[in-house]
Amino acid sequence: MTLKNNFFIKDNGQKLPVSLNDYLLPALSPTTKGTNYWDSKPTSDISKDQLGRIVLQVHQILDIFSSLGVDLNNKNFLDIGTGNGMIPRLILELSGLAYSIGSDPFLDSEHSTSWQKHDHNKTLIEIKKFIDLKCKNFLDFNKYSKITEYENSTFIPKKIEIFEQKEKNYRFENLGVHEISKIRDTFDIIYCKALEHISNWEDAFSEISKVSKKNTYFYIKHRSFFSYLGPHRYSSIEIPWGHLLLTDHEFKRFISEFHENRMVEMDRFYFNDLTYPRKTVSDMIKIAYDRGFYLHGIKIEPPKYREKVFGKINDINNFWLILKTNFPSLNLEEMFSGIYHIVFKKV
Ligand SMILES: C[S@@+](CC[C@H](N)C(=O)[O-])C[C@H]1O[C@@H](n2cnc3c(N)ncnc32)[C@H](O)[C@@H]1O
Repeated sequence: MTLKNNFFIKDNGQKLPVSLNDYLLPALSPTTKGTNYWDSKPTSDISKDQLGRIVLQVHQILDIFSSLGVDLNNKNFLDIGTGNGMIPRLILELSGLAYSIGSDPFLDSEHSTSWQKHDHNKTLIEIKKFIDLKCKNFLDFNKYSKITEYENSTFIPKKIEIFEQKEKNYRFENLGVHEISKIRDTFDIIYCKALEHISNWEDAFSEISKVSKKNTYFYIKHRSFFSYLGPHRYSSIEIPWGHLLLTDHEFKRFISEFHENRMVEMDRFYFNDLTYPRKTVSDMIKIAYDRGFYLHGIKIEPPKYREKVFGKINDINNFWLILKTNFPSLNLEEMFSGIYHIVFKKV
């Protein structure tokens, strides 16, 4: 366990302060009692905050499309990296979408970011019951904000009218993004909250282009690697923006010095389960542009924990110099971001 006021010494001899309590825990939402901050939720029924996460996410998607004047009626919807499929299933039932598909190469508990094994139908029924009880005909954040208190989101969606529609078709495809064209369909709306876990964005966007058509909207919900919790809870370290201050080689040394017991898992997550080589949002926009997806809308959510950790830069000597040396063209909006909502339109 890391001790307060420890230091990590970079290859050039510079000392960086290391403190779990000062630099990492204030940014993380609490985990299940009796588990470590990096553990996934143990197998059991879904928790209220997992339920809140789904409702909020669907609400935000509906809000973004409404703000952009995009009518979802009779459109089809593809969610890439869907996990348990709750997003495409719930949005289908609460809007005028015609049908939806969720795709993911991994099933429950197979990827480091997967949910625990659970009954998807039961979970969907539970979420809908909750919405019926709290919201009736409108998704209203005030009515369910209590169960989102541990979410790091600062994007409060506006009140949105919903209409319960039944008997609509959802199906799951066990496919990764790099083989998504095997679906042999094209979509009006494509959603993805997984890109930060996927490498080779060039090929991913080329594949997504094959399941798109003129005027397809492609919405990416994205946590940038360059943000404070870019390496997520599994491989974030106890130095403010430490992953940007250390080279890859120093990161490997850091985890062997400070996280000997789980260095293999941290290394795997950091280099295999996050986009590698690293890519910025600007890189994403260029890759998308080259494949006919023009930037249509963008919203940056600052993280909820900003006031707790942003000031910690002052604890690091030469912070800006190290950052500039490691990432000369890094955009500071991205460094201070929580979550990006990026919508492209296919031309
Ligand atoms: C952070 S989870 C998001 C799950 C779901 N979209 C949500 O919002 O709850 C990331 C998802 O990306 C999926 N994933 C990992 N590699 C992928 C790939 N190559 N193609 C598509 N999805 C992938 C994981 O299985 C996981 O379900």
